[in-house]
Amino acid sequence: MNLQGRNFLTLKDFTPEEIIYLLQLSAQVKEKKKKGIPVDHYRGKNIALIFEKTSTRTRCAFEVAANDMGMGVTYLDPQGSQIGKKESIADTARVLGRMFDGIEYRGFDQSIVEELARYAGVPVWNGLTNEYHPTQMLADMLTIQEHLGRLKGVKLVYMGDARYNMGNSLMIASAKLGLHFTACTAKEYFPARELYEECVEYARLSGGSVTLTEDVTEGTKEADVLYTDVWVSMGEPDEVWEERIRLLSPYQVNRKVMDNASENAIFMHCLPAFHDLKTGIGRQVYEKFGMKELEVTDEVFESPASVVFDEAENRMHTIKAVMMATLGEK
Ligand code: CP
Ligand code: NVA
Repeated sequence: MNLQGRNFLTLKDFTPEEIIYLLQLSAQVKEKKKKGIPVDHYRGKNIALIFEKTSTRTRCAFEVAANDMGMGVTYLDPQGSQIGKKESIADTARVLGRMFDGIEYRGFDQSIVEELARYAGVPVWNGLTNEYHPTQMLADMLTIQEHLGRLKGVKLVYMGDARYNMGNSLMIASAKLGLHFTACTAKEYFPARELYEECVEYARLSGGSVTLTEDVTEGTKEADVLYTDVWVSMGEPDEVWEERIRLLSPYQVNRKVMDNASENAIFMHCLPAFHDLKTGIGRQVYEKFGMKELEVTDEVFESPASVVFDEAENRMHTIKAVMMATLGEK
């Protein structure tokens, strides 16, 4: 398998075999890290991290992975560069491509990361756009594999805004790898028809399936993975909170949902999560709408079924594997 020189923009661009290869490479580098075996033969290479939205996990995962690999890292924060304001994406891409061996981009439209990739001349990695979050997918699939021992045949239920980056990406990853994906949410938040149909075709080839339902009892029945995400994503206006709370409250992951799932079901969340009043936004939402917990209850978040911190750790190992594969495995 040779992915050298490839961009990593959405899992739509990768075959199931290529995704499995990246997961295997992730497991290998994770084991090496645990054993203290270095993979630092990328010394002399440099990467740029462009963040037009904030981040804890993705930024740290890229930085730690790059440091482990022996690479130099430059971080461009949401305010600190000329991108988009004084310099076009195409010009930025051609400048950074002359200095760096790879570029990570987190921001808004997928078309921006695609344009960056078209002009950079070096691998570009999508660290989250409005439409997709592909590095998160590798971490999630690795985590499912570790906890459930398989991917094919796993029933993964996503509750929440299934038209956005996480819902889209989980549907693609599940369909490609033979999982049974269910978006269990209000019909207003069902994924776009075109992407849904594309995923139905992936699922036909992989032996998986894609289901959209508004029925919580039916949708979550015998689920192996219950997955949710924030109801309002980065970059969305505050005004959408009211509608999200009204339409998505029935789809909160709580004890009742977990009890309806399979006995060994796991709970997953890309994080950050609103499960208590220990965040600024969580408190503001509580003052305005009276909800102490949003997409997931604190009880489920803190339960033994919750594997959210394994997922977070796996961001680093999987991002390392993506960089190794696309920069050239040595
Ligand atoms: N899950 C995730 O992408 O987290 P950050 O926003 O902290 O990077
Ligand atoms: N849907 C969320 C994912 C965060 C990792 C957002 O875009 O803010």
